[in-house]
Amino acid sequence: MSGNHHENERAPMINNGVFIYPGSFDPVTLGHLDIISRASGMCGRLMVAIGRNREKKTMFSVEERLDMLSDVISSHGKKGGRSLSNVEPVAFNGLLADFAKNCGAHVIVKGLRAMSDFEYEFQMALLNKYLDDTLETIFMMTNVEYTYLSSSAVKEIALNGGRLDGLVPQCVNERLQRKILNLRGMNQ
Ligand code: PNS
Repeated sequence: MSGNHHENERAPMINNGVFIYPGSFDPVTLGHLDIISRASGMCGRLMVAIGRNREKKTMFSVEERLDMLSDVISSHGKKGGRSLSNVEPVAFNGLLADFAKNCGAHVIVKGLRAMSDFEYEFQMALLNKYLDDTLETIFMMTNVEYTYLSSSAVKEIALNGGRLDGLVPQCVNERLQRKILNLRGMNQ
């Protein structure tokens, strides 16, 4: 089953305000892109916000992750997908609840893959609501073909020379290969 058959059909608009889709995006995967594309049709403006997760050491700098997101978002429409003209990649420091308020966003969008995501996401949603009770978190079930996909798995596969088409956009694959060559060069 492919999620792309309905790419150009409109998702129902929920609210024409600002939604925020936060994450580490290290790097952005086709699973993220699927959520971005579906969520963008549901709101007036979607901010894809790179935040800092203290638990994770990243492979890509914030600037590199922003660059990859911009590439992927601007080329989506050209590759036959939904035009993502209302999607804006941004980076923030500090708390997501504060950043959302500054952007005028009242809705946080998150993708859920499996029960294993639930506990962490549930805690985040409640903490964000505690920090700002006007904030709502909505969850979108990931497309079935991406349930097993994660940025960590992508990095693991890339570092071990595995195949990545079908998991990340082509431009992200190229950047991963370049990054790995650079990392290897630095370690010699
Ligand atoms: O893709 P990830 O790693 O699940 O993204 C996590 C992220 C960056 C969205 C989350 O760690 C975050 O919101 N960080 C900013 C700090 C914050 O507001 N934390 C939540 C309250 S403790």
